[in-house]
Amino acid sequence: MKKIFFLFCFLMLPVLLTAQTTDFKSLSDEWISQLTLEEKAKLVVGMGMRFPGMPRNDAPVVGQVTDKVAGAAGSTFAVPHLSIPGMVVADGPAGLRISPVRNQDSTKFYYATAFPIATQLASTWDTTLVKAAGKAIGTEVLEYGVDIILMPALNLHRNPLCGRNFEYYSEDPLVSGWMAAAMIKGLQSNGIGTSIKHFAANNQETNRNSIDTIVSERALRELYLRSFEIAVTQAGPWTVMSSYNKINGLYASESHDLLTKVLRDDWHFKGFVMTDWFGGKDPVAQMKAGNDLLMPGRPEQTSAIVKAVNDGTLPLEVLDTNVKRILDVLLQTPAAKNYKYSDNPDLKAHAQIARTTAAEGMVLLKNQDTVLPFKDVKNIALFGNSSYEFVTGGTGSGDVNEAYSIPLEKALGEAGYVLDDSLKKTYTIYMRETKAKLPKPRNFFAPRPPVPQMPPPIEQIGKLSKSADIALITIGRNSGEFADRKPENDFNLEDAEQQLIDAVSAAFHKTGRKVVVVLNIGGVIETASWRDKADAILLAWQPGQEGGYPVSDILTGAVNPSGKLASTFPVDYKDTPSAKNFPGSPPDKPDSVIYEEGIYVGYRYFTTFDVKPAFEFGFGLSYTRFTYSDPVIPETYSDPLPVKITITNSGTTPGKEIVQLYLSAPDGKLEKPAVELRAFAKTKLLQPGESQVITFILCQRDIASFDTQRTAWIAEKGKYRVKIGASSLDIRQEGKFRLPKELIVEELTKSLSPRVAIYELKK
Ligand code: BGC
Repeated sequence: MKKIFFLFCFLMLPVLLTAQTTDFKSLSDEWISQLTLEEKAKLVVGMGMRFPGMPRNDAPVVGQVTDKVAGAAGSTFAVPHLSIPGMVVADGPAGLRISPVRNQDSTKFYYATAFPIATQLASTWDTTLVKAAGKAIGTEVLEYGVDIILMPALNLHRNPLCGRNFEYYSEDPLVSGWMAAAMIKGLQSNGIGTSIKHFAANNQETNRNSIDTIVSERALRELYLRSFEIAVTQAGPWTVMSSYNKINGLYASESHDLLTKVLRDDWHFKGFVMTDWFGGKDPVAQMKAGNDLLMPGRPEQTSAIVKAVNDGTLPLEVLDTNVKRILDVLLQTPAAKNYKYSDNPDLKAHAQIARTTAAEGMVLLKNQDTVLPFKDVKNIALFGNSSYEFVTGGTGSGDVNEAYSIPLEKALGEAGYVLDDSLKKTYTIYMRETKAKLPKPRNFFAPRPPVPQMPPPIEQIGKLSKSADIALITIGRNSGEFADRKPENDFNLEDAEQQLIDAVSAAFHKTGRKVVVVLNIGGVIETASWRDKADAILLAWQPGQEGGYPVSDILTGAVNPSGKLASTFPVDYKDTPSAKNFPGSPPDKPDSVIYEEGIYVGYRYFTTFDVKPAFEFGFGLSYTRFTYSDPVIPETYSDPLPVKITITNSGTTPGKEIVQLYLSAPDGKLEKPAVELRAFAKTKLLQPGESQVITFILCQRDIASFDTQRTAWIAEKGKYRVKIGASSLDIRQEGKFRLPKELIVEELTKSLSPRVAIYELKK
């Protein structure tokens, strides 16, 4: 029997992957002593963006760093007389975002691999896999001459309608934090940097540049800051990107509490902070807060900084500190090391990684009568727009320019299935003609308006329900930066989608045939009203450029699904605890959003208030079964606390299981959610009958809650129930330990206090 340890001990040991070695220090200090004030002010302001008419921080110099990588998001100022190079930064997070074409040259392309979206990576619950994906993405960053990739993005899924949820991992800070840490380690193992974003509490796109997020210190510390804390302390990202929004009245990029007290004093972050693009208002306040680099950079920001130093409102030491943090990181970059990049990463190898990772992150939501994997299926009737135009990822700065993407019908065809040609023709013509009539996107980032679902082709449905072996319906969604989704026709199905499911289900079930629905979506949708009409539902997410291949791998049984939900699927949008405070008030043009649900986000709410979700956090089916046995849970807490469980594949197909450890902490002075995820692990591929012992290690911080009054992490004395299960509602083994005396785990400085009373949800 194999044994495996999963260390979830949250150690406050900063990972010193940043540029703080003695040699680097002395060189950057030497540079600072030789830089003029103007040069310093230019170093803390990026070089601008390549938009027509957009002023740049400096006159473009031919061959200067901004010309190096077309389509990169920005770059920093170079000082040739001191041999200080510029750095190039480019977007993620589903892969490297650069322009595939340069100077209208049609002989050489600079494509990057589109990996599965972050939500899908989180659904793998596999940090090893995520690290490997990060390593592959990082190779492309390095080989295309980029120094820092603007990822991972790890804001929480506070509300299913956030347009950028696909870029983020989960509703839970532990999953988000550990996924991000794995991703950072993989990326940075290439000697390139990351910028974790968007710090912090940036959970919506509506009025993102000015919205004031009003949130309690406890919710911040336990949820919205926690994922970043894990990423910073466990993986040492080189840089952090501050978010657009305000937190309790102050812009994140102007908040000394956030960027100095929390990030640097509490978490010991050693790198530099950059703004989100055009974020914040006051460059001098940003410098003072510890926001070292203003991106993409505007000349008036440089002038304001020079002026403030000259008139004494910005102490030179503050600016020198900002400059030094940037130079310390710069010294580690490929640019500083004069790395000879190839412009030729191994895209073929990365495509394979994208395919495997995507399959591991797909979640089987329903499998009535084990309709999947396909048995005795040859002819498939393939319905739904996105069966023919698969959505590979979201839109905006998180959209990767990949060389190709694989539609589902192509993948199924290659796997040997026969698809109906006339149906394909009907959909193709409809898509082409409807697309031509749609309005053009508002700007080059804005999502293309979706092609409304084709009304059900009733005649073809009737015919195919007698000739095809099975029906497959794909429901697709896309969203991205600048806009949040809506409950109507997005969270909820469009009428034509409902009608399609109704018509196909009625016709195929009448002839004794099965119906499978594939969800090709980037965020949570409504499923409760229609799920009974499908025999199987596969949540394929937006799986990156390999698109249909990993879906077909699961449908055919080449891969046994092992993904689980990292965010709750509610029955109704209104069941979401933040629904009445999203996107804020006034609702049409909100200037503030109050997080009245407090710590009760996602499953913390659904389990505590006993609200039944459609599919709960942590849920996902497999083609096999697992038993949980022989839990070993010590009776009294000692630090660190080992917890063991044995997982056995009791079915007939090899498979992997995601094992979740939840804690129900005692209510004392602080009330606690019914359950909180404190550790998780994915088994290896277990053969039928094979077992694996998993050992989780819990440290003091893993059992603590944040006490606002004392500004400290506290573990209250009492009985802690340990619940080990296959999902947040499917607990398979339970035990308890006692903590005889309260533990003051960590005392911090008071930061980010709300300026108004928040009437938070209580149990
Ligand atoms: C986005 C960031 C992105 C930046 C640069 C902003 O609009 O919010 O996530 O990194 O643009 O493209």
